[in-house]
Amino acid sequence: MDTFEWDPEEMSDQRGRTVVVTGATGGLGLVLATALAAAGARVVAGVRDLDKAARVLPSVPGLEARLVDTASVASVRAFARRLADDGVVVDALVNNAGVSVARFELGVDGVERTWATNVVGPAVLADAMLPVLGGPSPRVVLVGSNLSQRTSRVPDLDAVDDPGRFRQFAAYTASKTAAAALAVELGERLRAAGPAASSGSVVRSVIAHPGIAATGMNGQAETRLAQLAGRIARLAARTPEDGARSSLWAATAPSVREGVFVGPALRRSDPRLHVVPVRGAAADPVFRGRVRAFVDEVVDRADA
Ligand SMILES: NC(=O)c1ccc[n+]([C@@H]2O[C@H](COP(=O)([O-])OP(=O)(O)OC[C@H]3O[C@@H](n4cnc5c(N)ncnc54)[C@H](OP(=O)(O)O)[C@@H]3O)[C@@H](O)[C@H]2O)c1
Repeated sequence: MDTFEWDPEEMSDQRGRTVVVTGATGGLGLVLATALAAAGARVVAGVRDLDKAARVLPSVPGLEARLVDTASVASVRAFARRLADDGVVVDALVNNAGVSVARFELGVDGVERTWATNVVGPAVLADAMLPVLGGPSPRVVLVGSNLSQRTSRVPDLDAVDDPGRFRQFAAYTASKTAAAALAVELGERLRAAGPAASSGSVVRSVIAHPGIAATGMNGQAETRLAQLAGRIARLAARTPEDGARSSLWAATAPSVREGVFVGPALRRSDPRLHVVPVRGAAADPVFRGRVRAFVDEVVDRADA
């Protein structure tokens, strides 16, 4: 395990780099996009609501909003295609957009919405953006959850689209575990493929978790019990700025290694980041294969 203190003020000069941050109209994504732009990066904020983006994103040079709904296969592909058409070379994709929905609901591709947003969308976006990733140290950062490291429970993929088995917290935890599995699987494929022709570098896949951060996410509960849990979580939570530190480091540190899981120390007052191996079901190749097949099936359905 690598442990070190890191403050965003230590972030290297980002001039000349381009970073895509999805879900940048609130919470961690807004902090990430703002901090990266302030450090000189060109930032493409991938948002599902351009009016909201115009209201909340700071008007600073280098920061632009583009439409993407990460719960839709067609939308993430169109987003990647527009970047390619515009000749944008992206140094880092931060797959940050995420939800924890209170009630079972199918998304446009016929998948439960937590999974559509947190699992299928980020995986399809990462693949669709591979042709535009470049620069000296290209990377895909998944904003994951420490929940996937702390449980050995293997998500039941047959339960995902079953309304009778839907539970908000379980669906969220399972989705973040599946997303972590796909981040590991992406890294394996990229290592096997070797350096990208555009940059001569291997694209790295990294997972960063924020700890518990006081964002809109903790207010998305439906039942009284879940609302209470959300309020308690917010009491123990970090600021969004502190929660975003690990993702900022993962998106910018030249030394970041492929396939790691980075997050803050347990205590809020502890300024260290820990870089650890991926654990739990995401580390299981059999589960990774099953999640890959799940996503492929959704994509086939979307294409049909
Ligand atoms: N906060 C925590 O304690 C915590 C802990 C572990 C992991 N995380 C992860 O951190 C990431 C960011 O969450 P957050 O805490 O910052 O939550 P948040 O405040 O609710 O922000 C989520 C962002 O994602 C966007 N989004 C949601 N669905 C989208 C879609 N279909 N297409 C495009 N954008 C979409 C939202 O857009 P709108 O503004 O339009 O709603 C919002 O900007 C998530 O992946 C989450 O799982 C958070």
